[in-house]
Amino acid sequence: MTIAVLGTGLLGYAIAERLQSVGHQVTVYNRTAAKALPLQACGITVVTRPEQAMAQADCVVLMLADAAAIHAVLLTPASLAVLRDKTVIQMGTIAQKESLALQAEIEKAGGSYCEAPVLGSIAEANAGTLLVMVGGTEEQFTQWAPLFRSLSREPRLIGPVGKAASLKLALNQLIAAEISAFALSLGLVQRAGVPVDTFMAILRESALFAPSFDKKLPRLLTRNYLHPNFSTNHLLKDVALFLNEASGYELTTSSLEGIKPVLERTIAQGLGEADYASLYETINPKV
Ligand SMILES: NC(=O)c1ccc[n+]([C@@H]2O[C@H](COP(=O)([O-])OP(=O)(O)OC[C@H]3O[C@@H](n4cnc5c(N)ncnc54)[C@H](OP(=O)(O)O)[C@@H]3O)[C@@H](O)[C@H]2O)c1
Repeated sequence: MTIAVLGTGLLGYAIAERLQSVGHQVTVYNRTAAKALPLQACGITVVTRPEQAMAQADCVVLMLADAAAIHAVLLTPASLAVLRDKTVIQMGTIAQKESLALQAEIEKAGGSYCEAPVLGSIAEANAGTLLVMVGGTEEQFTQWAPLFRSLSREPRLIGPVGKAASLKLALNQLIAAEISAFALSLGLVQRAGVPVDTFMAILRESALFAPSFDKKLPRLLTRNYLHPNFSTNHLLKDVALFLNEASGYELTTSSLEGIKPVLERTIAQGLGEADYASLYETINPKV
């Protein structure tokens, strides 16, 4: 399969590498071309315009930051002109409404569209174990199954476009909730002089434990947020998207609303591009 990947940020880079490594022919475009150039070493073609990547592709994978980035890359006259008869598979995290609006624009240009947001990060992309949630038709799910299965052991068709986008936000709300709750408990344990090992041993045996706690513990203990898997900026984006979508339903969102300023204060400390575990610097600032 010939695949165009638009966006080689943290996750797009790993996805492009994975798709090429399992035998697809991948062409990538990234706004900052220099970030994509190392992909040439594994046989990936790097181009400097999105329409060049799309021209020869069977399908177009979007791994861009947000809806604004997608508009800047895909909804230009030059890109729209090559979209006819192409399928765009949107894999970043955007809102249901944004996904539906994008579908309408792409179909107007003669292309087809499905969404396939993912849970998991760089390690899972490298291993082909992302959790891929597809919003689209059964025909699209079947047609692009070889691509989805290159990235995931068990891709799932969630429903029509929009349903997978909502599900992805529901899951990412849990990332924000879990890390902020864990950081707060760890902060109390450390300040109260309780051994962290004891806290973790009891937590691991309990029903309260989440595997992400062990994944993030070393970062929190060392206050090292370099080489992120997922940035604070993007977690704030997803929290804002969730709150916006939830405002249309009768849900009480005050717990998540409380996390938003924590993320904003973390970003104000210059940690927007750092790993999202850096919210520890706001929850338990260094004394
Ligand atoms: N990282 C993860 O673990 C993970 C997991 C699941 C879902 N996601 C989602 O997947 C998407 C990508 O995540 P990521 O972590 O790979 O993000 P990232 O490292 O921040 O990469 C963002 C990508 O978007 C491009 N971009 C941003 N603004 C742009 C604009 N205005 N015009 C053109 N291109 C623009 C960037 O280009 P430049 O390189 O030129 O800045 C880069 O290619 C996000 O929606 C994120 O929430 C990420």
